[in-house]
Amino acid sequence: MENTKNNSQTFSKDSEKKVAMKASQLMQLFEDSLKDIYWAEKALLKALPKMIQNATSKALSKALSSHLEETEVQVDRLEKVFSMIEVKATAKKCDAMEGLISESVDIMESCEEGSMRDAAIIAAAQKIEHYEIATYGTLRQFAQTLKLTQVVEILEKTLQEEKESDLKLSEVAMDAINIEAAEEAA
Ligand SMILES: [Fe+2]
Repeated sequence: MENTKNNSQTFSKDSEKKVAMKASQLMQLFEDSLKDIYWAEKALLKALPKMIQNATSKALSKALSSHLEETEVQVDRLEKVFSMIEVKATAKKCDAMEGLISESVDIMESCEEGSMRDAAIIAAAQKIEHYEIATYGTLRQFAQTLKLTQVVEILEKTLQEEKESDLKLSEVAMDAINIEAAEEAA
């Protein structure tokens, strides 16, 4: 009887240890992803003005400008999350975002001003949005598992903004640019 009790105590201690280990690994993963998106958002703050400058359509430049303002707030939110989990806000280079931004620069430079270039900017901006949506979705899920309720709320706000920004870009593309680009190419 005594032996069984000891065994079950050992077993529960072992499983507690495993749970704690998994939580700390998940926390590490969460921190790494947070540093990655912090770099990505800051890089986007520098890249968006160039995209705005290159946009011809007013609707596109308005959509990008309002996303620039949102991105500033999103950077502040990330800093808040860092302070909530008591980790120094540090940016870790995000190779994926660096690639997406450099692709957007290449495509802008290779297209002539006008609807074609606008269509190219939208395509590049939507790839960026989708990367952010994927990252914030994962971060929110990690935070949920780690029971960081307030952090979940903050990340959810940004995730919704990214989704709306993606929809807005789709609307701009549907409204005018794609049709005009097709006409110009014909
Ligand atoms: Fe963002």
